[in-house]
Amino acid sequence: MLVLKKYLINMATWRSSKRIGLQNRHSWVQVPSWPQVMKIPPQPIAEIYPNNLSTGYQKNMIYKNILVTGGCGFIGSHFIRYLVDRYPNANIVNVDLLTYCGNPENVKDVSTHPRYKFYRADIGDFKAMRDILNQHQIECIVNFAAESDNNKAVLSPADFIRTNAFGTGILLEAARQSETIKRFHHISTCEVFGQLPLKSKSKFKENSPYQPRTPYNASKASGDLVAKSYYHTFGLPVTISYCANNYGSHQFPEKVIPVFAIRALKNEPLPVFKSSGNKREWIHVSDHCRAIDLILEKGKVGEAYNIGTGLEKTVTNIADDILKILKKPQTLKRVVPDRPGHDSRYLLDSSKMKKLGWKPKVSWKDGFAETVNWYKDNSSWWEPLLAKSHSWK
Ligand SMILES: NC(=O)c1ccc[n+]([C@@H]2O[C@H](COP(=O)([O-])OP(=O)(O)OC[C@H]3O[C@@H](n4cnc5c(N)ncnc54)[C@H](O)[C@@H]3O)[C@@H](O)[C@H]2O)c1
Repeated sequence: MLVLKKYLINMATWRSSKRIGLQNRHSWVQVPSWPQVMKIPPQPIAEIYPNNLSTGYQKNMIYKNILVTGGCGFIGSHFIRYLVDRYPNANIVNVDLLTYCGNPENVKDVSTHPRYKFYRADIGDFKAMRDILNQHQIECIVNFAAESDNNKAVLSPADFIRTNAFGTGILLEAARQSETIKRFHHISTCEVFGQLPLKSKSKFKENSPYQPRTPYNASKASGDLVAKSYYHTFGLPVTISYCANNYGSHQFPEKVIPVFAIRALKNEPLPVFKSSGNKREWIHVSDHCRAIDLILEKGKVGEAYNIGTGLEKTVTNIADDILKILKKPQTLKRVVPDRPGHDSRYLLDSSKMKKLGWKPKVSWKDGFAETVNWYKDNSSWWEPLLAKSHSWK
């Protein structure tokens, strides 16, 4: 009887908390004891130095305290710089486990900024995530943290399931138990939808069925599904974005563009997959950051958004463009066997994002040359990383 009474009180609290929004949303929930997957205490390692990044294009952010996970990786570090630059009122907390591809150098220019704080922690560590959310009164989470390399996923799929599925679930649970969260934005990928035939006019829509074919894609799809369930079941204010392939500076030298650029610079062969006609849709990382920002501002809770440019390139196109920019011979291209589960094509219908007011600004011609030249001019950034990258072993 007592149990039933408690249950009815809990349900009443939950229903009214759903009506009134975020306040006390979780008051009926017993805090479960979550497994500690890794014992890494949060460590603040950086603080304070003046911001010299201002572009003059600033405004106020609707969320005062923002947690960016995976902020020492490629896209997360660009997003942090974007936030610091654009929003003078926002405090930014970066949580990154610093796996082999997490690199504090990527955020060195903001690392001592007064509105920036870094914690080395695992999104799969419930206590660490709960403490950080509480301590910084986090209102918005942008979850980039992931194992992100399809080739590595063939070698060690369990790492992908642990972070992308389990870790995302733990972070969502910590967010659900927080009293301050107003938005949980989860970064997904076009790859959860599977592959499109090379010769077709079809595109993936936000409601296309999930048909992942690799452990990376499947683990991302799993995290997405948990995020969606937290919106439907608990009313957690979740949004999701599916983005096309990103290019830009600071991408770990295991992905195709930095690998090809660095190999060309070293006069080493460029390994072109046998299915060299397979296509990817490409977006400059800064256009991705602007799209996420717009979703945070205008996106509807419970909705998902495709972020793509419509610009498709084959792996041969990429190799050719790099060799041309770096003035290297075409003979550097070498055909290698396909990766297992190598998807033929992804293309997104991004009309929903365009209706929200977004369109890409960076052309392939400008963005790609700038990117390749960045790798040319920054060997001190990539040299130390080659030893950590499976692509160079
Ligand atoms: N790169 C692309 O083209 C692309 C396209 C679409 C979507 N995405 C998604 O964008 C996000 C970022 O991709 P990226 O290319 O910047 O990846 P990345 O591999 O460069 O960065 C991932 C970051 O996450 C950190 N990380 C890994 N496991 C963690 C954990 N358990 N806890 C905390 N931090 C952890 C790593 O240390 C690293 O800094 C990923 O979710 C990826 O799936 C990427």
